[in-house]
Amino acid sequence: MADIAVIGTGYVGLTTGAYLAHLGHNVTCADVIEEKVEALTRGEVPIHEDGLTDMVNEGIHAGRLRFVFGATAAVHDAEFVFLCLPTPQGEDGTADLSYVESVAREIASHVRSDGIVVNKSTVPVGSNLRVAALLNRDDVHVVSNPEFLREGQALHDSLNPDRIVIGAYDQEAALRLVELYESLHAPVLVTDPASAETIKYVANAFLATKVSFINAVAHFCELVGADVKDVALGMGQDKRIGFEFLKPGPGWGGSCFPKDTRALIHMAEDRGYGFDLLRSVVSVNDEQYERVVEKIAFAAGGSIEGKTVGVWGLTFKARTDDMRESPSLFVVERLLAQGATVNAFDPMVKKELDRINVCADAYAAVEGADVLAVLTEWDEFRYLDLAKVKALIGMPTIVDARNLLDPVSVRRHGFTYDGIGRL
Ligand code: UDX
Repeated sequence: MADIAVIGTGYVGLTTGAYLAHLGHNVTCADVIEEKVEALTRGEVPIHEDGLTDMVNEGIHAGRLRFVFGATAAVHDAEFVFLCLPTPQGEDGTADLSYVESVAREIASHVRSDGIVVNKSTVPVGSNLRVAALLNRDDVHVVSNPEFLREGQALHDSLNPDRIVIGAYDQEAALRLVELYESLHAPVLVTDPASAETIKYVANAFLATKVSFINAVAHFCELVGADVKDVALGMGQDKRIGFEFLKPGPGWGGSCFPKDTRALIHMAEDRGYGFDLLRSVVSVNDEQYERVVEKIAFAAGGSIEGKTVGVWGLTFKARTDDMRESPSLFVVERLLAQGATVNAFDPMVKKELDRINVCADAYAAVEGADVLAVLTEWDEFRYLDLAKVKALIGMPTIVDARNLLDPVSVRRHGFTYDGIGRL
């Protein structure tokens, strides 16, 4: 079993630390937020991920998982140093590598000889070389090992990966990392670092393309009177296409797709390639927010000014507490800008939000509203009492931007209903 350091305890870092400890390794996780380190040491997990709190506590009690302040304190003796740091979008759309670079500088003289620095963050192509240059150590390897986990099912995805991608110049270092993951029995692709870094960007860009494609198809379905649900089903049965990521919605969001698609466009542009296909994928997504706003305005009688909109769902998708680049918030911002009042409920959002009235439950959000907009696909919204909603709402009209509700049942309860690309 290996001694491992994990630098950064966000969704990727904390999940990585927890499951590597679960696999029997000895893991030290580092962060620069002192209160976070203290809370994690007490077994308190600040993010919502199925099973993560239990796995963190399992690791702590087994003595295989600990949390320390600062990267330097974690890397001594570590055979593997996982960099799980944020790479936020810089002002010009490129990925900001400064967190990764500053940690590389900080740990340069502390990584043990023959140690392997593993880049798990989504980093611009060429970052592997950049990190190696900053470390400036002939006796330390730098390996790219992108993470493909989805928020909300991070542990499941980490323990059951479709594949493990390892990008390394040194075959022996690559094999040492392969061994670390042996018990996961996943297919492994060993390649060069630039290819590994590219795989992460293009995988996300392709998934975003699928969602933009089905959102565009949903619009077409509305124009010709087809039902996108059946259309997607008929497409997905073709094994070359598959069923996944063909659910229409209010547009894609989250901490990865928006940032990574823009960064990929930038990387291509820097090398003289416009990547028009991906640009269109992004603009179809921006149009989708607008389309949902138009649907809500239409349902509210043509204009949203002075109207009250009840909103169900604020997170960027269900089963997460993450609101970063949330399509719901993009829609809500547009509604507010057009003079609407927004009363919103989300099972994972309890804090106060600027200009949005955050309600205690789904029913409170619809009280007196001129229209209800369903913006995140939380399962519990399916099972709410529509008769009660009807009694509370001002105007019985629903825009279901996730195609979550059953139109027949909703209409039977006396609502007008508008979904995305369905009859
Ligand atoms: C994504 C990738 O799936 C993951 O492999 C990568 O490591 C990080 O980025 P995540 O950001 O957790 O994961 O979200 P994901 O589940 O992929 O959804 C992204 C967005 O697309 C969400 O806004 C979601 O609602 C939307 N989406 C997804 C759809 O609108 N329709 C779909 O069919 C699928």
